[in-house]
Amino acid sequence: MTEPQVVIHKGLDGVIVDETKLSLVNGTEGRLIYSGYKIEDLAAHALYEEVVFLLWHGRLPDRQELEALRAQIAANAEIPKEVLKMLKSLPSDSNPMSVLRTAVSMLAQYDIDSEVMTPEANERKAIRLNGQVASLVAAWPRIRKGLEPVSPRLDYTVAQNYVYQLTGEAPPSKEAVDAINTFMVLLTEHGMNVSTFTTRVIASSLSDMHSSITGAIGSLKGPLHGGANTEAMNMFLEIGSPDNVETWFNDNIKTGKRRIMGIGHRVYKALDPRAAVLRERAEALARASGNSQWFEVADKLAALARADQYFIERNLYPNVDYYSAIVLYTLDIPVDMFTPLFAMSRIAGWTAHFREQAAANRLVRPDVLYIGPEERSWTPIEER
Ligand code: ACO
Repeated sequence: MTEPQVVIHKGLDGVIVDETKLSLVNGTEGRLIYSGYKIEDLAAHALYEEVVFLLWHGRLPDRQELEALRAQIAANAEIPKEVLKMLKSLPSDSNPMSVLRTAVSMLAQYDIDSEVMTPEANERKAIRLNGQVASLVAAWPRIRKGLEPVSPRLDYTVAQNYVYQLTGEAPPSKEAVDAINTFMVLLTEHGMNVSTFTTRVIASSLSDMHSSITGAIGSLKGPLHGGANTEAMNMFLEIGSPDNVETWFNDNIKTGKRRIMGIGHRVYKALDPRAAVLRERAEALARASGNSQWFEVADKLAALARADQYFIERNLYPNVDYYSAIVLYTLDIPVDMFTPLFAMSRIAGWTAHFREQAAANRLVRPDVLYIGPEERSWTPIEER
């Protein structure tokens, strides 16, 4: 009798693990919608909090609902003093994603709802985490330089508070706030990516929201996922000038030695629609700043790749991380803080997925094919 053939879905490509009402990622057409709304429309018009409300409630808020959510997030954005004390004790050269992971894990100890799993408690925790993660991402670059962190303001949006808490300047620059808001809207949610899957896997064992988000931050840190925005900027800096792009491409990419960070995607086999929005924003910001050098490096490299047979055959296009690196760099955000900014945007998507998983849970427990040795007899240690 022949054994039934086992199909291994390595990397789980194309495996549908559940249903969601949160977002649709159509990789063939390069289309992304959040709960029915096109990402291009949301990027052009929405406040980050409007998108958060949309994901959490399945519809857009009216003015009063939006103001209520904004105010709740702002009122819960303060970092507990014990967590700030811990942050001040960390080595200043710590990886910022490790810092964020540690801090979010510790926030659980100061959240009265951390072990309460009701839908209401999960909503309260999601509100707190949305504000607190942005405060942490703003605080760390100050703390590591020996500066005091800045408390969030009750009358600000998440994007305003982030820029204000990072720079200490009130009112924060409108140009920076608008760009951060758009960046956050674009990165809020994205189907069953690695960190969202991690969120749902942890939620599926009926563990708590802080554990789930701590795990998600750990998986976002990797250079094949959220870490690619920092890696992309380091690559542009290494190239140094638009004049060096072609030589760099020939030496590093044509030889197959390296990958272009910020290019390629497991799902998109067409242009990532978020990259198109970010490219425009990156160009406008770069021109307004009077320094287009980095935008030109990125754009020239993307054009070279898009004209190259290797990239054409494999449908490799810039992803969200590629031009977002230029946007954030032009805003003077430290390069190693780019991935934490991704986390502070995706927190709304992660918490929405946590609650969706909790509402219709099934323990995530796939199988694995054993390819180790057949049963062996035990050998006492003195005979080995
Ligand atoms: N540069 C050069 N070649 C690439 C790149 C790249 N950026 N990305 C993929 N390829 C090539 C691979 O070498 C492979 O070639 P082969 O078929 O000859 O072996 C082919 O394209 C397919 O690549 P895979 O790694 O199998 O594709 P996968 O779907 O697993 O990859 C991934 C997606 C991991 C994002 C990949 O494109 C990559 O490493 N990109 C760079 C890192 C990056 O930008 N990550 C961010 C993703 S977006 C996000 O998570 C927010």
